[in-house]
Amino acid sequence: MADDPQPRGAEYGHIPVLLDRCTELLAPALTARAADGTGALFIDATLGAGGHTERLLSDLPGLHALGLDRDPSALQIAGARLAPFGNRVTLIRTRYDGIADALEEAGHPAENSVDGVLFDLGVSSMQLDRTERGFSYSADAPLDMRMDPDLPLTAADILNTYDHGPLAAILREYGEEKFASKIAKEVIRRRERTPFATTGDLVELLYAAIPAPARRTGGHPAKRTFQALRVAVNAELDSLRAALPAALAALRPGGRVVVMAYQSLEDRIVKSVFAAATASRTPPGLPVELPGHEPEFVSLTRGAERADQREIDRNPRSAAVRLRAVQRPTDRGGS
Ligand SMILES: C[S@@+](CC[C@H](N)C(=O)[O-])C[C@H]1O[C@@H](n2cnc3c(N)ncnc32)[C@H](O)[C@@H]1O
Repeated sequence: MADDPQPRGAEYGHIPVLLDRCTELLAPALTARAADGTGALFIDATLGAGGHTERLLSDLPGLHALGLDRDPSALQIAGARLAPFGNRVTLIRTRYDGIADALEEAGHPAENSVDGVLFDLGVSSMQLDRTERGFSYSADAPLDMRMDPDLPLTAADILNTYDHGPLAAILREYGEEKFASKIAKEVIRRRERTPFATTGDLVELLYAAIPAPARRTGGHPAKRTFQALRVAVNAELDSLRAALPAALAALRPGGRVVVMAYQSLEDRIVKSVFAAATASRTPPGLPVELPGHEPEFVSLTRGAERADQREIDRNPRSAAVRLRAVQRPTDRGGS
């Protein structure tokens, strides 16, 4: 059977991942009060090209959406794509841990006002494809990596100014790079001669610093260092750690949060926040659940869900995805 010649969303530069599954998970919460989504509020915390939001707004003609992104060029692309939905969608430039402020700016309470939230983490294909933004190790470009062009620090600034200890810690913790200390030493040695300016400078150094046997087995030698610098430049993990509790607090009874992570550091944060949110609050050792101490949320996924081979063939980006989802129970008053 022939697949679509061009997967949905490709014309906007980014093919949405697990689009049907996200829709299936969010729809029951968004249609709990009206089958067409009237009265429901959805937050797309990582709007990107707007692929998931477009689908939900099309399927549910009464739904309102709040689209957040820290990257103004994403908001521009999604804004044009979602223009046909008029005032059913509000776009706000913010980091996703600014959910509470974004809700207030749009005229909604920060708590108990939202029916569904989606996080589709990481960089978009548009960001990777715009080589001048420096996210990709496969093209030579300025070493930038800022998702928000107003951030003060670029990847080049980190490489050219950080001491060995903090630099090695970034590579180890955010990139899980085994050769972190060696790479940091080589970075400092090189920058004393010529400061880092382009992705090519860094890739060249990594080829030299990572031993050949590790290069043959560990994927592209630049992959982990680029991930580490991107996470550091954009404070991605801190932003996620703060955003998830804010998203959970924003939910009304019956509301759902769906998160898609593409690297283990982010997925670990999602897993641990969701594990705490779905744990019983009855003191350990009691034989029954104390009234009012039941878990605040229930899990909608068993472990992390992955994309199937068919989707991975159409959209290689989906190979790394791990999806987790939780719901605030409907039978209690949001306690
Ligand atoms: C994978 S893309 C989303 C793609 C979108 N779901 C679609 O299908 O078109 C992730 C987006 O999240 C944004 N982003 C990443 N970290 C963010 C943060 N901390 N706050 C706000 N936006 C963020 C990026 O700028 C990017 O546009």
